[in-house]
This record gives sequence, C-alpha cells and structure tokens, in this order.
Amino acid sequence: MSQVTIVEVAPRDGFQSVKEFIPTETKIKIVEALAATGVPRMEIGSFVSPKAIPQMADTAEVLKRARLPATLRTHVLVPNRKGLELAKAAGVKEVCWVLSVSESHNQSNVRRSVDQSFADFEEAWKEQGEGLKLRFALATSFDCPFEGRTPEARVIACVERVLKIVDELEISIADTTGRAAPNHVRGLFSTLVRNYGSDKVQFSFHGHDTYNLGVANAIAAYEAGVRIIDGAAAGLGGCPFAPGATGNTATEDLVFAFEHMGISTGIDFAKLLEAADMVQAVAPSQAGGRVRTVSRRRALAGFGENTRGLPPEVAACA
Ligand code: COA
Ligand code: ZN
Repeated sequence: MSQVTIVEVAPRDGFQSVKEFIPTETKIKIVEALAATGVPRMEIGSFVSPKAIPQMADTAEVLKRARLPATLRTHVLVPNRKGLELAKAAGVKEVCWVLSVSESHNQSNVRRSVDQSFADFEEAWKEQGEGLKLRFALATSFDCPFEGRTPEARVIACVERVLKIVDELEISIADTTGRAAPNHVRGLFSTLVRNYGSDKVQFSFHGHDTYNLGVANAIAAYEAGVRIIDGAAAGLGGCPFAPGATGNTATEDLVFAFEHMGISTGIDFAKLLEAADMVQAVAPSQAGGRVRTVSRRRALAGFGENTRGLPPEVAACA
C-alpha cells in the first residue's frame, strides 16, 4: 500500500493562533492524545520571543512533561539563534527553522530581512547544528499576505541558498495564507522534487485551509512526489503575523482523504477524531475541518472496503 507521513502541527501552529493562554496541563493532555493516534511525527511548540507569541512560552515544560511513545518523532519551531539554543537546552533532537520567502512577511514575522535571516541561520547552524536533524520551513512559498503571489524563482532561490549551507535536510514548503491552488502546488513541487529531491533532501507540504483547498492542495503535493504532509487536528492554526490566514488543513480531513484513496497514514482514525475534539474545545470558534461535521457513526464506518458487512444504516447514512 502507498504511504504518506502526516506531521501533526496543532501543538504549534494550532495553539499559537489562540490568544487566551491554554493551560500547560491541557496542552500536555492534547499532545499525549494526539501521540496516541499513532501519528508518526509532531511539531510541539516553538522557541520564539514570548513577547511575540506568549502562548508558546511553556514549550520546554510541555516537552519535559508529556509522556510520548519512543517511536514518535518530534520537533520544535525556531526563528533565530536564541531559539536554537533554547531548543538544544530542552534536549530537542529536531528543529524546524522558519524564514519567509517574501520580504514583507519575514519582516512581519521575525523582524529581519530575508538576507539577515539566512545569515543568522548560516552562522547559528554552523555553530549549533551538530547532531540536530533539520526541517527548514519556507513560509509564504505560494502567497504572501502583503505582496500577493510569490514568484517561483524566489522559492527556488531560497531552496538553492539553504542547500549551499546544509546538504541533508527536509524543506517544508508552506502555504502560510491558504491561498494556493492545486495547480500551483503541483507545479512548484514538480519542479522542486525533480531538480532538488534526493535521499538527503526531502520536501514536505504545510498547508492552510482558508479557501477550503487544503485537502486538494495536499493531494496535489502528493501527486507531485511529496510524501510528508502537515495537518492540525480540528483545523486549528494560523500565523498571527499573516493577516487573513485561517487554520491549517485538518489532520482528520487529510487522513480521511488519503486513506480513502488507499494511501496509508498509520493513524487510528477513531482516536484522531477524539483528539481533534479535545483540540476543538480549546478554541471552538477557531476550529475548522469537514470530517468532524459528519455524523460520527458514519465517519467511523470506514474507508472504502471497510464498510462491507456493516448494518446498512451505518454504512449508508446514520
Ligand atoms: N526565544 C525566546 N526569547 C527570545 C527569542 C527566542 N527565540 N529570540 C529573542 N528573544 C528575546 C530576547 O532575549 C529579547 O528579550 P529581552 O527583551 O528580555 O532582552 C527579546 O526577545 C527581543 O530580542 P530580539 O533579538 O531583539 O528580537 P526581536 O524583538 O527583533 O524579535 C524574533 C525577533 C524572531 C525573536 C520575534 O519576532 C519572534 O519570536 N518571532 C516569531 C514569530 C512566530 O513564531 N511566528 C509564527 C511562526 S511562523
Ligand atoms: Zn502554518
């Protein structure tokens, strides 16, 4: 069976979008519930300025106290050298360093020019990167809330730039605003995977669902050769420095779509729906996604073949 690796990002992108502080205890319970779904990877918090995003201030404590399966790969987001140092001090083995392809979003998000962020990264990574696994996230790879559509050449220039600094990494191509269309996603990833993809350089897709194209965009990325896709349970998420962006593509919508297409995620769908309900409860008005709006019995009736033998009222319409 074909496979796709889902990366659960609700404990970073999801939580960071919520203004009211989510108690550390609640964050830990949700992280543990998400881990229990069998999801293979998770982004848990970020080491960013607590003035910029107060919600992320307890990341070290969440990491320390959450009881997670040894098989789960986790990483944290960092925007600068200080973040990298704090992540290392917290015992993290993988980090996601973020910068934006578009100048104005980079300024808005990390208060640096793109050049400055690359220079910071190069210096910090050479000094501190030893032994760490790297995901390098290129925000606004398709669209910038301030500048509009991002030229493909700018994304390619950023990819080439990071490959001059690091030769083994995952590059996350992000639709920060959720304004990409599937043909744009397919086109950009086809170019990137063909020209730069290898055993050492993998591409992943981070999508938002602002215009209800999140699942279609993820499938377009998959069809262009991407095998690592981000989602946030209950569709929570959004960069506070990207006006107009709403939540991430809901993990449960991605899992339903991929499994229904015969592409395995390794995730327990019933457990995921329960965990997504917990995520939704922290900010009900911000949550999104479609699958949770379907009657639960019907959603759980299974994918394709699995509905055989079930009572007709469950298999068809409960
Ligand atoms: N973690 C914790 N604190 C940090 C930090 C980090 N990674 N980076 C900087 N700080 C602290 C500094 O120590 C300093 O503290 P002080 O005022 O008590 O002395 C303060 O933040 C300002 O530091 P400075 O380097 O001048 O940062 P800045 O004000 O120019 O802000 C960033 C730059 C990158 C730190 C900030 O814009 C940021 O955290 N952005 C992240 C945004 C984000 O997470 N977006 C969503 C994800 S894409
Ligand atoms: Zn995002």
